Amino acid sequence: MADLRINLAGISSPNPFWLASAPPTNTGYQVQRAFEAGWGGAVWKTLGDPIINTSSRFAAVHFNGQRVAGFNNIELITDRPLEINLKEIYETKKRFPDHAVVVSLMVEPKQEKWHEIVKKVEAVGVDGLELNFGCPHGMAERGMGSASGQQPDLVEMQTMWVKEVAQTPVIVKLTPNITDITATAKAAVRGGADAISLINTINSLAGVDLDTWNTIPHVGGKGAHGGYCGPAVKPIALNMVAECARNPLVGVPISGIGGVSNWRDAVEFLLMGSTGVQVCTAAMHHGFSIVEDMIDGLNNYLDDKGLQSVNELIGKSVSRYSDWGDLDLNYAVVARIEQDNCIVCNKCHIACEDTSHQCIERHTDENGAAYLKVREEDCVGCNLCSIVCPVEGAISMVEIPASEMPLSWNMRQAAIGALSTPGTDKGSKDSDSKEAV
Ligand SMILES: Cc1cc2nc3c(=O)[nH]c(=O)nc-3n(C[C@H](O)[C@H](O)[C@H](O)COP(=O)(O)O)c2cc1C
Repeated sequence: MADLRINLAGISSPNPFWLASAPPTNTGYQVQRAFEAGWGGAVWKTLGDPIINTSSRFAAVHFNGQRVAGFNNIELITDRPLEINLKEIYETKKRFPDHAVVVSLMVEPKQEKWHEIVKKVEAVGVDGLELNFGCPHGMAERGMGSASGQQPDLVEMQTMWVKEVAQTPVIVKLTPNITDITATAKAAVRGGADAISLINTINSLAGVDLDTWNTIPHVGGKGAHGGYCGPAVKPIALNMVAECARNPLVGVPISGIGGVSNWRDAVEFLLMGSTGVQVCTAAMHHGFSIVEDMIDGLNNYLDDKGLQSVNELIGKSVSRYSDWGDLDLNYAVVARIEQDNCIVCNKCHIACEDTSHQCIERHTDENGAAYLKVREEDCVGCNLCSIVCPVEGAISMVEIPASEMPLSWNMRQAAIGALSTPGTDKGSKDSDSKEAV
């Protein structure tokens, strides 16, 4: 059995699976039951000044037979008194000294407010703090959550205020509702963050009821934008994690969040630079016991890969993620149809004919049976046919040996720049010479 223990900026945990700050971590009863079930850590539901929640507050997008492909909520931070939360945090940490108990915080952007809550929370013995600069609804209207998290200077300043008094590691949780996630990640680091966590939820409206014309969800006939999460947001979260992981100016450990539903998702986040993952929607959908499969699956995967520790996975794919301009323009794949597996449903032909490069031909063999064939010389390797194909193994994308050396757009531009440098006899600014590179 591999070693699943992780250490995120000084916060250790028996495995990389933490519950995210959300309904599953609302009370001591829940967090303790989660630890009994196998979760390695929990980020307590955000504490701050008590709020009033709306009654109708969740909605889901069920897509094509999959329930909860995406999840939407207009819930705010904890609605329980601070003192009760603190008492339960103390009891939980005492009972589970080896588990990671991190507490999420959100207060007004005022230095004294941050100082006060940090001191109170640390006094009950937590392993770390997570600053919630992410909630996109309700709190944002009050200048907190994503309203803070969208402004790098506010992220930096508030992180600094927390660091002035914090004794435990400080994780800054980022909002995805921003153009460049690295701008706020870097601001958090400038403010002294020991780690970042991402993503919080994405601005969303789950739907509109076709009969009543009300939004989904609605509160007495009125709706407001909510936060989107669950499986649908994983690609967005993974990209944001990767962008932070590969940016040298970020350079702090990352806790990956967003659509993690099983051990495979978790491994992807680890490979893309997360030290551990946090889970909310999957736990809300299936209960705490899903962590058992996560632990077993991760253990088996590490064994299969011959790895001793989960830490050996962290960041292994980061260097493979780059800018478009660095991609090799001479690399080529083409589609190949495995005739034995193809059911001649024509999905690939239609997709290619209508929306791609018209290179999948329909034929009839000598027995009158229909079959499909790729005209490889015209295939651009877009992958669409293999994506729409309903049969596993019927279409594979095959690499064809490159006839030329790797050449990226950046290399090409650099070569053009060298050629057109004034003073060199090869220099020329006309477009013909550029095309000739
Ligand atoms: C109902 C609900 C309430 C949430 N409340 C909080 C919160 O209080 N603090 C916080 O930082 N994030 C909160 N989140 C966001 C989650 O912690 C997490 O960042 C997000 O759901 C993405 O993870 P997931 O795709 O696994 O759900 C909440 C999410 C949901 C669905």
